[in-house]
Amino acid sequence: MGNKTTGDIDRNSFDFLSIIGKGGFGKVWRVRYKKNYKEFAMKEMSKARIIEKNCVSSIIGERDILSQIHHPFIINMIFSFQDENNLYLVMNLFTGGDLRYQINKNHIFTEYQSKFFIACLILGLEVIHINNIIHRDIKPENLVLDYKGYLKITDFGIAKKQVKQNSNETSGTPGYMAPEVMNCQNHTIVVDYYAMGIICYELMMGVRPYVGENRNEIKEKILARQIMIKNHEIPNGWSKEAADFINNLIQRKPNMRLGYKGINQIKTHKWFNRFSWEDLYNMKIEAPFIPSDDDNYDANICTKEDIINNESIERLNKIMLSNEYKTCFKNYLFFNIYDENNNIENNFINPHKKYEEKKIINNNNHNKENENKKTPQSPKLKKRIKIPQLSAEAQEINKYNLFTPRSTKTIVRLKDS
Ligand SMILES: Nc1ncnc2c1ncn2[C@@H]1O[C@H](COP(=O)(O)OP(=O)(O)OP(=O)(O)O)[C@@H](O)[C@H]1O
Ligand SMILES: [Mg+2]
Repeated sequence: MGNKTTGDIDRNSFDFLSIIGKGGFGKVWRVRYKKNYKEFAMKEMSKARIIEKNCVSSIIGERDILSQIHHPFIINMIFSFQDENNLYLVMNLFTGGDLRYQINKNHIFTEYQSKFFIACLILGLEVIHINNIIHRDIKPENLVLDYKGYLKITDFGIAKKQVKQNSNETSGTPGYMAPEVMNCQNHTIVVDYYAMGIICYELMMGVRPYVGENRNEIKEKILARQIMIKNHEIPNGWSKEAADFINNLIQRKPNMRLGYKGINQIKTHKWFNRFSWEDLYNMKIEAPFIPSDDDNYDANICTKEDIINNESIERLNKIMLSNEYKTCFKNYLFFNIYDENNNIENNFINPHKKYEEKKIINNNNHNKENENKKTPQSPKLKKRIKIPQLSAEAQEINKYNLFTPRSTKTIVRLKDS
């Protein structure tokens, strides 16, 4: 079946329920599709702001990539469309909040909870990379949890096909950006493994390895020394294998980094001894952290600053939506229908297809999130969800307010052609 286009979808096809996220070009809404009452996440992006920031090709790229990929560990795009002022990208809704929200709320996760998040991230990255795409903005804000606690990769706003010459592509988020990107060198998919290492370090130590106010400060810290977690620094409850996994991912030199020789290096690292990737893919493993049933997003997402921005956007709209810009978003419309078995008619490679015989029997697991039916947690299950207390070290770090606030902004440095 694959792609189908339809002209009869617009903003009025949805009820807008709440704001669940804020992106560089607008808001992410929780919406209800009036036709079938299903709930989705809708990313609304101001065309004027996209043009102003010179990001047209990145935004078109995001839509193109999402129209190709369909996988349980990646957010899936259902529709995309536009009106005079905005682009709209409608995706599966994941109600567990993003990892940044959960880190800030719970502050610290156990080793097994962290390992589970990272394992989901690995499966998501595997499918992105095998399709020759570099995500380039892996960070906690761009990892969202479903209601069961499974993690999905979102935000392909600066993702790119991997090419040999890409030293000019230096977009990303400084705290998670691999040194080779910072240094404007050609880079490969292993930049995403570096970012994964930083996230894992943050989950273990409560703070990122290289902290700084801006890109230059972070760059200086990285240049100054290679950070390694020493045995005596490993927090209680964490293993040496976890530290070794992280130390090998945060290697400054890409050719020294775990995963440089292929993702199997990562999947077979001793930290994942006896871990069943197949069971994970089939969602047979019970997630060790289950998000609460509350609204898992910051209530203060929309600030005064946004209201001011909205006013300036109205001014921008008038200036920028002149004839010369009218055609740059043509063909944005997309309507996605997948058949029962998620078959998709394009060149998309799913490396996990081999796991799928079992999945088809169990297919309902994956469709549940789409239907957005929340199964009530059994009292037994609830009891087992233990949010660990902050360790003494983490409390100390927290005192200095080093937990990363929601301000790790993606910096787009890509010139549109
Ligand atoms: N499918 C989804 N379900 C639930 N929440 C989502 C979904 N997609 C995005 N979000 C939330 O909205 C936020 C912003 O979305 P996204 O990261 O795609 O926007 P962005 O404009 O690319 O942001 P950035 O400024 O980080 O590049 C995410 O951090 C996440 O909290
Ligand atoms: Mg984002």
